[in-house]
Amino acid sequence: MPEQMSTNGQTAVIILAAGRGSRAGSGAPKQYRNLLDKPVIARTLEVFLSAFEDFEPAAVIVPVIHADDHELFQQCVVGIDGLAEPVIGGATRQQSVRNALEQLAENPPDYVQIHDAARPFVTKGLIRSLFSIVDNGTSAAVPTRAVVDTLVRKSGPSQLEAVARDNLYTVQTPQVFKFDEILAAHRAAKHDNYTDDASVFTAGGGEVTFVEGLEQNFKITTAEDFQKAKRMIAGDCTDVRVGSGYDVHRFEGGNSVRLCGIEIPHDKKLKGHSDADVALHALTDAILSAIADGDIGTHFPPSDEQWRGAVSEKFLSFACGRVRDLSGMISHLAVTIICEMPKISPHAAAMRERVADIVGIDVSRVSVQATTTEKLGFAGRGEGIAAQATATIKLPERSIF
Ligand code: CTP
Ligand code: MG
Repeated sequence: MPEQMSTNGQTAVIILAAGRGSRAGSGAPKQYRNLLDKPVIARTLEVFLSAFEDFEPAAVIVPVIHADDHELFQQCVVGIDGLAEPVIGGATRQQSVRNALEQLAENPPDYVQIHDAARPFVTKGLIRSLFSIVDNGTSAAVPTRAVVDTLVRKSGPSQLEAVARDNLYTVQTPQVFKFDEILAAHRAAKHDNYTDDASVFTAGGGEVTFVEGLEQNFKITTAEDFQKAKRMIAGDCTDVRVGSGYDVHRFEGGNSVRLCGIEIPHDKKLKGHSDADVALHALTDAILSAIADGDIGTHFPPSDEQWRGAVSEKFLSFACGRVRDLSGMISHLAVTIICEMPKISPHAAAMRERVADIVGIDVSRVSVQATTTEKLGFAGRGEGIAAQATATIKLPERSIF
């Protein structure tokens, strides 16, 4: 039985991504930057989509973006289905929420959950527990965490005043509200500088139920937060998989071979349906093997005309995409090219660079070796080239989510 999340009525989720991320240093707005190969916003959206998988009726997920960010947004959500048309945000977070609420008001849901795109470590569990609280009849549920550090107010260049931390909390998103009540509170708000919706709601007289927030559900705000986020993802990837791949292509008449994406002059070429890059094929298979996701032929059948003459970089990129879909990391790739000729060693450095470039990992994680077979067998007779590869991949432990 799939796990059910019960909320009686139509539900909407607002994902706020219209900010500029000015505290996160230079570069694209923080929600569009990569966290180990996957944009922050894609990670956030994926948690919501998976939390709502079994949800009846289906939740509407509304991203709120800056008017300048259409292209960035589209690039970051490639392959993510089931989102509503993005709403254009406002100059402040509060205005961005208001714009989305007004858009939803045309066909009002019963409940709305509002979340910062910059909190990619939100969990399915938190999303579901917030809904179960409003299901029990309250109007709003808000995650908070008690302040644990000593608090002071700097009152001069070298002076401070102690601030008692009793009853002081930090507030997180997602926050869930009865839709008509949060809409009314936003419309009645006296200013537009509230930095969360629970504040808007209670300023309008509403009452909220508090839920224990999660330490991991922090908001990426500074450049240092990106380092912390990367460490968290890397730390979660404890499920280590090793895959292997092997491929052979025979020679035919020609004047160059393509190996690891590098064209090498030779008095023959490799015969194949695609560009016959035997090394990239072995690497692609090694990656697919590590995630137990079939092989190159499963995904790119040789019978399919569209792959005739295909550049094998495409196959390797595809396999990397499958790892990304699992929120995994490619830790190491090794390929051994087996042939008498051409000589591989003069090209090995360029091959490593090329593979690292396609995969998007550091070159120190890519090994390219070559060997002959002492003139034995088909490779020894110069009939073709074989390649054998391994891929080491780290996946998140599913049990933690
Ligand atoms: N946000 C928004 N519209 C705004 C401002 C913020 O949708 N006008 C969103 C941000 O994209 C972010 C969330 O609200 O997901 C929380 O805001 P914050 O952390 O302050 O993000 P930024 O405003 O982008 O960052 P900064 O304040 O450092 O510029
Ligand atoms: Mg801000």
